[in-house]
Amino acid sequence: MNGHPLLEARDVTVRFGGLTAVDSVSAAFAAGELVGIIGPNGAGKTTFFNALSGVVEATSGDLYAGGTRLTGAKPHRFAQQGIARTFQTPRVFGELSVAANIDFGLQFAGRQRSASWLLKDETSILNLINLRAQAALPAAAITPSQQRLLEIGMALATRPKLLLLDEVAAGLTESEVEAMAQLIRRLRDELDLTVIWIEHAVTTLLRHVERVIVLHQGRKIADGLPSQVVRNAEVIEAYLGDEMAEMV
Ligand SMILES: Nc1ncnc2c1ncn2[C@@H]1O[C@H](COP(=O)(O)OP(=O)(O)O)[C@@H](O)[C@H]1O
Ligand SMILES: [Mg+2]
Repeated sequence: MNGHPLLEARDVTVRFGGLTAVDSVSAAFAAGELVGIIGPNGAGKTTFFNALSGVVEATSGDLYAGGTRLTGAKPHRFAQQGIARTFQTPRVFGELSVAANIDFGLQFAGRQRSASWLLKDETSILNLINLRAQAALPAAAITPSQQRLLEIGMALATRPKLLLLDEVAAGLTESEVEAMAQLIRRLRDELDLTVIWIEHAVTTLLRHVERVIVLHQGRKIADGLPSQVVRNAEVIEAYLGDEMAEMV
């Protein structure tokens, strides 16, 4: 490590016409962190991810990956810096097999060697995301929750340093949400990954992350330990209500 955060946003603003979706947000992410991002619908969470992965260009502000300035760069340059992401609506190749979808990610990364045996090859990735039995099925034929796992597998196949997860537990049953949280923990713990995780299942998220950022109307209103953030007056007012403090 060179002393720089793995990823840093400085005063990032994203406007769509007259609407400010992300309003001067600054945040730094260190190697190995598992950080949650929460906030009401329309708070700017996905747009912030889009800026962090080069999918949308920030209207103003700067982005740095390991000290390299990426402001204005195209998504492939963010990918080259080891940033991978999932989309709120899974983007898998429906007509291709589950295994071929993973293979696509591997080829995208040029089959560079992974630091971890868990990402050694197609089979090890399928085992990690628990889709070995579905390997030969077309991606369109597996369940929506399995498609979310597949999208994570595709992102992992690019051997990222940083994984951005956008509502990967949306639409899952309670036990599937917990399994997803366990998987995310495992990715961070065993793959040396940094993970930033947006989720609506706030209670689950708060139990698993060690730091949480709250966005509200495009602004960052809190950034800290879950136990502190749930007691933050502005967060309670804008989003969580009083009950959350009892749960974390
Ligand atoms: N491509 C876009 N064009 C115009 N407005 C957008 C676009 N993407 C998002 N927005 C708007 O930006 C705001 C933030 O959206 P989003 O980042 O999706 O919020 P969240 O993910 O927190 O629900 C919303 O008001 C949304 O309608
Ligand atoms: Mg969103």
